[in-house]
Amino acid sequence: MPDARIVYADNDPLVLAHARALLTGNPAGRTAYLDADLRDVDTILGSSEVRDTLDLTQPVALSVFAILHFVPDSDDPYGVIRRLLDALAPGSYLALSHGTADFGSTGSAEGVANYRARGINLQLRDAAELARFFDGLDLVEPGVQALNRWRPESDSALTDDQINMYGAVGRLR
Ligand SMILES: C[S@@+](CC[C@H](N)C(=O)[O-])C[C@H]1O[C@@H](n2cnc3c(N)ncnc32)[C@H](O)[C@@H]1O
Repeated sequence: MPDARIVYADNDPLVLAHARALLTGNPAGRTAYLDADLRDVDTILGSSEVRDTLDLTQPVALSVFAILHFVPDSDDPYGVIRRLLDALAPGSYLALSHGTADFGSTGSAEGVANYRARGINLQLRDAAELARFFDGLDLVEPGVQALNRWRPESDSALTDDQINMYGAVGRLR
């Protein structure tokens, strides 16, 4: 959507370099990039990137795709998402995708091992753990589903084993 306003946040310097080189906006739809850690909620919400780009008195979408499995329980991912949602207007949405070992155990074990070999520990979560991020929100159909089953746009040959990810969307009351 050309008039969408978007703030991207990531804590990787390489992503920052690419964003500086590639990210552009236009007068109707502004785009900003924030070099921040997802766990630094106050930094994110207090940033000029968020405050100057988004109107948080209106509903927005908080999209957290393929990031939360990098945030272990010891870093309170549920509290992080709750504090971000607390800043949003009713009618806002939370959209998540998240690695799991509920299906496709071969692929998920390989993925975990590949990351671990590079010093990154993934915390995969099951369906119940993913649903907890949506406590107090209305889950949008079809709920917590394998990503390839979440409203596929066409007949897909992908199997759960190739995806190893859940997807879910919820609406803030
Ligand atoms: C698999 S990529 C997903 C990128 C993007 N969300 C997407 O769906 O295309 C995971 C991203 O999460 C970022 N990331 C991991 N932990 C993070 C954290 N604590 N705070 C901010 N970004 C983080 C990584 O730098 C990486 O760019």
